[in-house]
Amino acid sequence: LKTMWEYTDKVLDLFYNPKNQGVLEDQGEAGIKISTGEVGSIACGDALRLHLKIDVEYDKILDARFQTFGCTSAIASSEALVELVKGLTLDNALKITNKQIADYLGGLPEAKMHCSVMGQEALEAAIYNYRGIERDVHEDDDEGA
Ligand code: FES
Ligand code: FES
Repeated sequence: LKTMWEYTDKVLDLFYNPKNQGVLEDQGEAGIKISTGEVGSIACGDALRLHLKIDVEYDKILDARFQTFGCTSAIASSEALVELVKGLTLDNALKITNKQIADYLGGLPEAKMHCSVMGQEALEAAIYNYRGIERDVHEDDDEGA
């Protein structure tokens, strides 16, 4: 039975066997920074928090983890996003579109395309946060919520 809600095997596999869920914490490693981007409201419902491990010298994403509160598509999209960004420079990561995320999954139901947008936005937020921190390196005390 085919419905507009049908998921590809890839979506279901990533949903049931997520590999990249969790948090990345700053271990004080030299040349490494952790940056986090968040979209939506975790208190409220659909939300996604993405942690990036960044190689400062090469401006490159070494690793990523996500915490996602959302539907099947949102979880699978988060997995796809992490797989897509690992090893990319920040500039190249910024070029990732939610369409690429959906394509990685073999497509998403039309009504679920917006779930892949959260990942793309969280990625952007994490990179912008990182670049903001770089600019105001002496003002860490003063971050608003
Ligand atoms: Fe945010 Fe219900 S808790 S809309
Ligand atoms: Fe809200 Fe997918 S995250 S419907």
